[in-house]
Amino acid sequence: MSDHAQPFVLAGVMGWPVAHSRSPLIHSHWIAQYGLRGAYVPLAVQATQLEQALRALPVLGFAGCNLTIPHKVQALSILDHIDPIAQRIGAVNTVVVQADGSLRGTNTDAFGYIESLREAQPHWVADQGPAVVLGAGGASRAVLCALMDAGVPIIRLCNRDAGKAQALAQEFGAVVQTLPWSERHAALQGAQLLVNTTSLGMDGQDALDIRLDALPASAVVSDIVYVPRLTPLLAAAQARGNPIAEGLGMLLHQARPAFAAWFGPLPAISTNLLHTVHASL
Ligand code: ATR
Repeated sequence: MSDHAQPFVLAGVMGWPVAHSRSPLIHSHWIAQYGLRGAYVPLAVQATQLEQALRALPVLGFAGCNLTIPHKVQALSILDHIDPIAQRIGAVNTVVVQADGSLRGTNTDAFGYIESLREAQPHWVADQGPAVVLGAGGASRAVLCALMDAGVPIIRLCNRDAGKAQALAQEFGAVVQTLPWSERHAALQGAQLLVNTTSLGMDGQDALDIRLDALPASAVVSDIVYVPRLTPLLAAAQARGNPIAEGLGMLLHQARPAFAAWFGPLPAISTNLLHTVHASL
C-alpha cells in the first residue's frame, strides 16, 4: 500500500488536567516505531463537557481515546457499550469508536497490571498463595480484577477506611477478605504477593508504613506508585531479598491493548521506551 492509501489514524487522551499525562509520549513512540500515519494528542476536556467531547470523536474521525482523571467513572453512563471488564472495574480508561459510530468503553488497567507483574517476575504463580492488597480506590479495583482472573485463591484487602474495603469484598465475592488497616503487618504471613495501590510512597507523600517481617522471602512486592520508580516500599523489599515489580510497568502495559484497538499492532515495551518515559517523569 502506498503512503497515501494508508489511513491517518487519530487518538488521544481526555482529561482535566491532561498536560501531565505520559500517554502521548508512549503512543507517539509506537506510531513512529511502526511507521504508521497517525497522531495521539492530549485533549483537555472538562467534566461538564465529557459527553459532547466523546460524541465528537466519530465526527472528527478519531479511532478512540483514553480517559483519565476525572472522566473514568462518568463515562460509564455515556458510552453506548461497556465491556464486562470495565463494568467490573467500575471505570473506563479506553474508548473505541465502532464502525457504526457508536462508542465502546473498555478498561485495560487489569491487563496492564498482570502483564507488568508477569514481565517483572515471570516465576510468580497466581495460585501459589494469598495476595495482600493495600488500598481500596480505583486502582485497587483493577488490581483485584487482575488477580482474581489470574487465579489468586485468597486476596487479603486492607484499607484505612474499612468500609470501602468491605464494600469491595461484598462486590467481588469470597476471594476478597478484608482485614483492618492496623492488621496490615500481620496480614503478610504466608502471602506470595504484596501490592500497594495506595498513593503512599509517591514523591511528596508519606512513605507506606508497613513492617515486612512476616512476609515470606519468596513473595513478590509490587507497587503501583511510579514516581519515584523505586518507592520506599520496593527499596525495603529489595533490601530483604524479595523480588519486586515497579509501578511504571502498569502504566506502560495498559497502553498496549488500547494502541492495538486503534492502530492495529500490539506493541512490546522496549528498553528504549522505558527509558524515554522514565526520563520524562
Ligand atoms: P486511585 O484511583 O489511585 O486508587 P483513590 O481512589 O483516591 O486513588 O484511592 C487512594 C487510596 O489510597 C485509598 O485506598 C486511600 O485510602 P482511604 O480509602 O482510606 O482514603 C489510600 N490512602 C491515601 N492516603 C492514605 C494514607 N495517608 N494512609 C492510608 N491510606 C491512604
